[in-house]
Amino acid sequence: MKAFVVEKYGKDGARAAEVPEPTVGDRDVLVKVSAASINPLDKMIRNGEFKQLIKHKLPFVLGHDVAGVVTRVGSAVHGLKVGDEVYARPRDLRIGGFAEFIAIDMDDVAPKPASLTLHEAAAVPLVALAAWQILVDKAHVKPGQKVLIHAGAGGLGSTVIQLAKHLGATVATTTDTDTEKLARSLGADIVVDYTKEDFSKSLSGYDLVLDSLGGANLEKSLTVLKPGGLAISVVGPPDARFAKQLGAPSFLGLVMNVLSRKVRKQARALGVRYQFFFMQANGSQLRKIGALYDSGKLRPVIDSTFPFDQTLKAMAHVEQGRTKAGKVVVSMVPDND
Ligand SMILES: NC(=O)c1ccc[n+]([C@@H]2O[C@H](COP(=O)([O-])OP(=O)(O)OC[C@H]3O[C@@H](n4cnc5c(N)ncnc54)[C@H](OP(=O)(O)O)[C@@H]3O)[C@@H](O)[C@H]2O)c1
Repeated sequence: MKAFVVEKYGKDGARAAEVPEPTVGDRDVLVKVSAASINPLDKMIRNGEFKQLIKHKLPFVLGHDVAGVVTRVGSAVHGLKVGDEVYARPRDLRIGGFAEFIAIDMDDVAPKPASLTLHEAAAVPLVALAAWQILVDKAHVKPGQKVLIHAGAGGLGSTVIQLAKHLGATVATTTDTDTEKLARSLGADIVVDYTKEDFSKSLSGYDLVLDSLGGANLEKSLTVLKPGGLAISVVGPPDARFAKQLGAPSFLGLVMNVLSRKVRKQARALGVRYQFFFMQANGSQLRKIGALYDSGKLRPVIDSTFPFDQTLKAMAHVEQGRTKAGKVVVSMVPDND
């Protein structure tokens, strides 16, 4: 089958290749991929940024988000059958959505939301799972709470805004001038144009900040929290919890605690909290999230679509910051849905 594989770590490490179809384990479903979407994580994995923690065996197929049709099921699979239209963010070490077929553990897969095309559904899993795990599992966001979501026009931010509104929060976000209107249409109550204004001068008393930029943005984010408030960063620095989540040796937990020492100290001094977050595959959460798409509470934001054979171009589009808003999808059948 055709696939995009990482042969060696680095900027030029991914290429189109002919590879064997994946083997299907007892718990796996084989999915004929209709569409996949690009995440900044694809570039990071290709560059080897996580190679000490997520130990892929080279070469491997890249791609963290897929939607497609089940063509085979393993002997232990239940709840999914041949012909089902599904979507998934396969677990770490079992990625491989930039291919004609992918075998996915049944626990990572869910029926695609009925109201979305396969093309639209491919834009959803990673960012929507991250949104759910941040707002529901970690921060337990309640109606009336104040939430600041940075980079509201991004694939992640555009999804988190919508879920935070659905949970009843008052939502502030940061965007550039061109995407302010989009952020408001997604439900943001306050939009700070980061090209004109410093959010930390106008916002205060927040229960939660989601940082996806890091560095100075994260440090300033701590100052807009109310006492006891929580800053979650999806870009780091990582903390020991992340090493534990990945089952990494305990010394890596210590290393990560050192990496995040400065920001944790700053947070303590301000009487607020800091946590790093890295999303996890979860098919049962994707089922719940799917219902929110079907009821119109959430909608995918798609920037552009590339044909499958231009997957590397699609990755470059995201990597070079050329998206206007939302996700980039690669489609096996561009005109079919
Ligand atoms: N840890 C996790 O589980 C997890 C999960 C999902 C994503 N992430 C990370 O989160 C980051 C964002 O992911 P994504 O999928 O949303 O990427 P994306 O679709 O490329 O979006 C990035 C967004 O950031 C905006 N931006 C750039 N500079 C900004 C600033 N100073 N203030 C506000 N917005 C700014 C960009 O808008 P402009 O057009 O204005 O530049 C763009 O809309 C990536 O680093 C990704 O790896 C982590």
